[in-house]
Amino acid sequence: MTKIRIALVVVLLWSMVLTSFASAQTQRAWTNAPGIERKVEALLKQMTLEEKIGQLNQYSYGTPTGPGTGRSKVEESIQRGELGSFLNVVDPALSNRLQRIAMEQSRLKIPLIFGLDVIHGYRTTFPVPLALSATWDANLVERVSRIAAEEATSSGIRWTFSPMVDIARDPRWGRIVEGAGEDPYLGSIMARAYVRGYQGTSLNDPRSLAACAKHYVAYGAAEAGRDYNTVDMSERQLREVYLQPFHAAVDEGVATLMASFNTINGMPASANAFTLTQVLRGEWGFRGFVVSDWGSVGELIPHGIANDLSTAARKGFLAGVDMDMESNAYFQHLAAFVKSGQVPPSALDEAVRRILRVKFALGLFDRPYVDEKNAVTTLPAANVAAARAAAEKSFVLLKNDSGVLPLQKGVRSVALIGPMADSAPDMLGAWSARGDAKDVVTLKAALEARSKRDGFQLHYAKGTEIRSTSDAGFAEAAAAAAQADVVLLALGEDASWMTGEAASRAFIDLPGNQQQLLERVAAAGKPTALVLFSGRPLALTSAAARVQAIIEAWSPGVQAGPALERVLFGEAAPSGRLTVTFPRSLGQVPIYHSVLNTGRPPVGLDLTRPPTNGNEKFKSRYVDEQNVPLYPFGFGLTYTTFDYSATQVDAQQVSVDQLNAGRAQVRITAEVKNTGTRAGEEVVQLYIGLRGTSVARPIRQLKGFRRVTLEPGKSQRVEFTIGRDELSIWQRDTKYAVEPAELTIWIAPNAQSGTPATVMLK
Ligand code: BGC
Repeated sequence: MTKIRIALVVVLLWSMVLTSFASAQTQRAWTNAPGIERKVEALLKQMTLEEKIGQLNQYSYGTPTGPGTGRSKVEESIQRGELGSFLNVVDPALSNRLQRIAMEQSRLKIPLIFGLDVIHGYRTTFPVPLALSATWDANLVERVSRIAAEEATSSGIRWTFSPMVDIARDPRWGRIVEGAGEDPYLGSIMARAYVRGYQGTSLNDPRSLAACAKHYVAYGAAEAGRDYNTVDMSERQLREVYLQPFHAAVDEGVATLMASFNTINGMPASANAFTLTQVLRGEWGFRGFVVSDWGSVGELIPHGIANDLSTAARKGFLAGVDMDMESNAYFQHLAAFVKSGQVPPSALDEAVRRILRVKFALGLFDRPYVDEKNAVTTLPAANVAAARAAAEKSFVLLKNDSGVLPLQKGVRSVALIGPMADSAPDMLGAWSARGDAKDVVTLKAALEARSKRDGFQLHYAKGTEIRSTSDAGFAEAAAAAAQADVVLLALGEDASWMTGEAASRAFIDLPGNQQQLLERVAAAGKPTALVLFSGRPLALTSAAARVQAIIEAWSPGVQAGPALERVLFGEAAPSGRLTVTFPRSLGQVPIYHSVLNTGRPPVGLDLTRPPTNGNEKFKSRYVDEQNVPLYPFGFGLTYTTFDYSATQVDAQQVSVDQLNAGRAQVRITAEVKNTGTRAGEEVVQLYIGLRGTSVARPIRQLKGFRRVTLEPGKSQRVEFTIGRDELSIWQRDTKYAVEPAELTIWIAPNAQSGTPATVMLK
């Protein structure tokens, strides 16, 4: 090694030490501050059993789950210290009124904490999280969540039930829209970005929200994609994939976690001592608190591990769920268990400590009220601009034959067809907090304005409803297409019914008769671009066969129209990349990129050949479908093209011992060139594969990525460095290690391409 290289490695290692120190510091900043600990202990000493249990109790305001008959008694509950938190209070005046009862009329004056699902914006609605992940831009995600925090805190909310960091590999699952897709590496980076954005540099900042990583854990692996369904998986899969983004969030200092609805290997996640106590507290040292999901303590009864609510309370609590959202189980039953000794008083103290720690860290004792005058009620212009920029970056161009997009500046007539073209509520997407459809600029509105400016004709026809079977509007749609130079088809999913919670689909095609509408319109023979609004990958094979271009727009938020219009006309280029695999057909589901090879991979090991060859009968494949997806993970086109050189590594062989000691790394480079005629952004991705290891490894795993911007004709050498963290394999318990192996590395534009390089780990 040359001196320069040694120096570089030293600098790199030192910066790694500093980075981990910095993130540990962020976590310590609120979890370990001695001042806070002293206050927590002093308060704890004064609390009665009932007051302690009160802190573990959360109600949704207006939902009559509360003690006694519900709503009308909530004020008394606060007075008596029987309530620690509300969700769904969004009116700052109400929040102050309730808080005043806690601060002025309750014995110990412990402030309430108000939580809400602030998922992708508060008043200003940004693209849905799956779309935000498609930006592959952690800084952008951090900015978006900071804006959401600033808006939400202005209404008295200091806690968001976000980020959802569930890995999701089954597009039938409606909640795939709420997360960052299928990959644990990308998911971890996004998890950290959300936590940084919400929590800021200090939780004590009145504009910071406590974040909540949810749903802990493996909720996204619900069997058959049916929401709330069973999950059964190996500990390896749990640790190497599903736990990863949670671990990242904890490492970044997330204040809270939410326990999920599902079972994991037979044990409900909301009563799971292994995940909630052994892993989360024991192994990771998490010092914040865990809230149940809505009623998930009570759901231990239908799960079959409790025959009554009191048993449910005991099991949920002893496993490590500190706060009971909406089951009212702790409130009714915990005291008796503590008195009888079935729940140790020390366990109760510990749960209360965790909750008080977060309340003190948020500064709620010093500043319990919100300034009602400053509540964000209208959309700040800067936030609207940020929403547009985020949307532009999240669109994924899936197909663009003969350069249909961007539309020509001199185009004379455009047909805009489809039920999504002017559907404001669907632009907001699932969980839009205080988003208001009235603030949305739809694609139709944006194109109308543009047509006046640019002087082209716009022929609009709705064609059909989102979930309709009537073809009454088809003729009008076909006529609009016939009159136009180019056709934009705005199709997709009903965001509130088909995406988000309890929105699993058994079919993942275009809903209703939209495919038939597409075929009818395409028959006009005009260049046609499909603008797709969906909260999940759809099976687009038949649609893709009939249109020249497809742009996946997800649920883009309030600025749907302006963002799309700018991208469609080329003022901005689509630069999103898929964070979830798009199948060719439903039968391939679940489908994701980091699969094992199997003992019988189709010939060529590459899973890219259709099953046409008779010799491939006894291979791991379908007889009636290809193995490969329609659009792979990481994929996305833009208005220019990029070329990748072969991947290069700086060594043929690296010592496993040195890697494990953190003293060696592998440096990998490739040259990326903009071969088109306009500037463009590329998401350069790094994948690794390991062979010859003690257990079978995925053919490819994402281990790095970088966004690069290149002028036409220009190239850039993109460099990655990987070491122990990227190469380690889970051994057992808390142990990870690098093993001797043949390491294959690809620097590539997506999970299905690239020219690899090989390094022996010895
Ligand atoms: C959802 C959570 C959400 C909670 C509170 C539940 O139904 O699963 O994601 O945070 O409700 O609204």
